[in-house]
Amino acid sequence: MTSGTLLYQITDYANRADPYPLYAELRRTPVARQDDGVYAVSTYWEISSLLHDPRLSSDARNRVPLADGSLPPDPEEDSTLPPSFLRLDPPEHDRMRRLATRPFGPPNCPRRIHDMYGELARMVSGLIDGLDGREQADIVDDFAYPFPVMVICNLLGVPHQDEARFHGWADAIVSGLDPNPAEGPAERQRVAQQARTELGGYLAGLIEEHRRAPGHDMLSALATEAGPDGRMSQLELITTAVLLLIAGHETTVNLITNGTLTLLRHPEVLGRLRADPGLAVPLVEELLRYEPPVQLLPQRTALADIDVAGTLIPKGSPVWLMLASGNRDPRRFTDADRFDPGRRDNQHLGFGSGIHYCFGAPLARLEAQIALTELARRLVNPSLVADPPPYRQNPVLRGPRHLPVAFDGLATRF
Ligand code: HEM
Repeated sequence: MTSGTLLYQITDYANRADPYPLYAELRRTPVARQDDGVYAVSTYWEISSLLHDPRLSSDARNRVPLADGSLPPDPEEDSTLPPSFLRLDPPEHDRMRRLATRPFGPPNCPRRIHDMYGELARMVSGLIDGLDGREQADIVDDFAYPFPVMVICNLLGVPHQDEARFHGWADAIVSGLDPNPAEGPAERQRVAQQARTELGGYLAGLIEEHRRAPGHDMLSALATEAGPDGRMSQLELITTAVLLLIAGHETTVNLITNGTLTLLRHPEVLGRLRADPGLAVPLVEELLRYEPPVQLLPQRTALADIDVAGTLIPKGSPVWLMLASGNRDPRRFTDADRFDPGRRDNQHLGFGSGIHYCFGAPLARLEAQIALTELARRLVNPSLVADPPPYRQNPVLRGPRHLPVAFDGLATRF
């Protein structure tokens, strides 16, 4: 990527705290070709239609070299594990997604997420109780990171004592998604691949244990139960478990943290949420539009020439879909730069759209609704210690690295 271009500036860490004015500039050219041959698509209707277009592939095996001869980076590239369904096209994608859905949601387990409500609420209360006696907390390290980690580990059947081991692996794997890393792409890729291999090795052992003594968790079900599509192979199961663990770790933390930051910047909304917990549902949708944890999807390839808004994207081109920019497109959303939890027409792109629409969306929504409602209710007089807070390096999974918040004690637990 050439330095100085708008896309470079968007991925540049210097603009991480507020990339939105740059997205506004980018939208002046809905489909913008970069010097290296990447096409960045930044307007709502064009992104939305491409997310439903079978001519745009998510499969890394369809990548072709960029203008400089290098292949676009692929965070899943390694020799030991097959691609996860995030990086597959139909029909392989659909079969794997159906298999993964069996122990997770409708039609086979329609109440799975709904039935987790009590357990999630207990986890949130426990983490907030842990702040008792303090005047300041880091919402990331003390709350928004440990909560989704506990949830996804519980759901999959990863023992609590092993949770800490995932931090390093998850950080390394996610840094592989950074299209503009601080260190060299080759080194970043090597570290990400090593982490995937190590995590895969750990999960292989765990899956064996679950096969011998199944519990009520997803790994046990995936390892032992068969449906109309049969059962995942051992390697498919490992790669799916890696995907779910990473997706469950690194996205919801940013939704909860971006949510806390946005609420503290809009105290009147915080007050309304405290008075009416029902507001959490539309509020979380508006957060997914206004501050989406997944800002862009940089891993698609055109399988044919595609005409988008009068620009031809040639077959073989890498395509970046700028979700966060589409979410602020004034041609789609009235007063798009305003945070408005009362917004009625809010079909945002925060979870993507089409066949790859976020698998974990019902879980992520419930986690964020409970987390933000309880933080709003229990932190007395919360205020930001630093605004903007320090951000994570990653421009794709964007969110604060720390969010120091001061408060005057805790309200009692219900
Ligand atoms: C706020 C939290 C989350 C956000 C913003 C988010 C966002 C997204 C987005 C934008 C996609 C589409 C990717 C694409 O089209 O290439 C996606 C896919 C996916 N997400 Fe999430 N996600 C979140 C939480 C989760 C959780 C908790 C899980 C696991 C339980 C999860 C599992 C997945 C999986 C497996 C896919 C791939 C689906 C497919 O390829 O069919 N996500 N997510």
